[in-house]
Amino acid sequence: MTRIDFDKYEDFYAKRTSGMRSSVMRDLMAITARPDVITLAGGLPNTESFPAKTLARVTHEVSMHSSAAALQYGPTDGFEETKRNIVKVMAEENTVIDPEDVIITTGGQQGIDLVTRIFVDPGDTIIAEAPTYPGAIPSFCSFEASVIQVPLDGDGIRTDLLRGEIDRLGQAGTKPKFIYVIPNFHNPAGVCLSLERRLEVVELARQHELIIVEDNPYGQLRFEGEQLPTLYSLDKDDNVIYLSTFSKIISPGIRLGWMVAPQPLLAKFNLGKQAADLCPSTLAQMIVNQYFKDFRWQDYVEEVIKVYRGRRDAMLAALTEYFPEEASWTHPEGGFYIWVTLPEYLDTVDLLALALEEQKVAFVPGSGAWVDGSGANHMRLSFSGVPEDRIEEGIKRIAKVIREQMKLFRALRGSE
Ligand SMILES: Cc1ncc(COP(=O)(O)O)c(C=O)c1O
Repeated sequence: MTRIDFDKYEDFYAKRTSGMRSSVMRDLMAITARPDVITLAGGLPNTESFPAKTLARVTHEVSMHSSAAALQYGPTDGFEETKRNIVKVMAEENTVIDPEDVIITTGGQQGIDLVTRIFVDPGDTIIAEAPTYPGAIPSFCSFEASVIQVPLDGDGIRTDLLRGEIDRLGQAGTKPKFIYVIPNFHNPAGVCLSLERRLEVVELARQHELIIVEDNPYGQLRFEGEQLPTLYSLDKDDNVIYLSTFSKIISPGIRLGWMVAPQPLLAKFNLGKQAADLCPSTLAQMIVNQYFKDFRWQDYVEEVIKVYRGRRDAMLAALTEYFPEEASWTHPEGGFYIWVTLPEYLDTVDLLALALEEQKVAFVPGSGAWVDGSGANHMRLSFSGVPEDRIEEGIKRIAKVIREQMKLFRALRGSE
């Protein structure tokens, strides 16, 4: 294809498109799909562990017995049966819901898009964690939100700082449209919001009449430690909108997620979803529903947890062995990610360029998790989609690049 240096469509774009951003993970996907690159970048579920025979059996069943319905349009909010299966999934995290409170979405991602679409006018404020899910940033930017990021630590979002931010905004006459939090095995930070802070977040929402968007794709993937209650289950005042997905417990290729919310909000989300894609995939829903009918869905989750636990352990061991002592990292009790903090003077975007070119290894640079591009000395490492021996090799290669950069920095500083 001929390279185009100017964009002849420039004058046609809506103004808001100038703020649109690409997710760093999506950008990296093309480069890291190269077979010679070890990628610790993508948060990829290990789809290889899903038994091909199971998929064959459920798709065959749907094709042979329900093909007309599976190929037809369906309701915007999804099938009743899919909702009943979601009730079962959420019960596993001790969260009781009614099927009527659910809308099925096209992946968990659409839930983020719909909440932003429905609540945010240009310039409206959203509060998110610092760092936040890099894939949420393009949604927030598409709707021209002003995003305030509140730091998290090993126990999740700093509720003292969150309270301060809410007060500060209140004094300026601003009410955030929602607070976006990922309480379990945070993407990218790998941490969980402690019980104490969960109660505080819910209480803050009650006191200030705020909406919390709880995004929980990883809650079922706990390798160790105590399960913590969802914010949705702790809230008694209809302040929480809950988002989740089948992506990590079955497959992201299915592209099905869900939102749980009070009825007036569901009606608005339904309008937003009609405009976006009419309805969730009927074929995918029927496959999922058949799967729930014929198999115990928890068996597969237990199976992948074993794989992910082994990979997490392999990554932690490799980090201890190869990374410099100036680096620190989180020890996740579940999920997909380890979050690394490097000395302040290192920039992980520069490191990534070197890592890809010299060592054929990839990770997500920290700045992808901040709307303003800060967080340059962090990196997200994902252990979910890579076998243990490749994890060790990948970490060894990243460590080499880090050490070289540190040496260079010291040499330059020494020669000042
Ligand atoms: C925190 C978070 N929210 C939402 C999503 C999107 O989920 P889905 O792949 O089902 O669209 C992801 C995927 O990685 C995620 O990590």
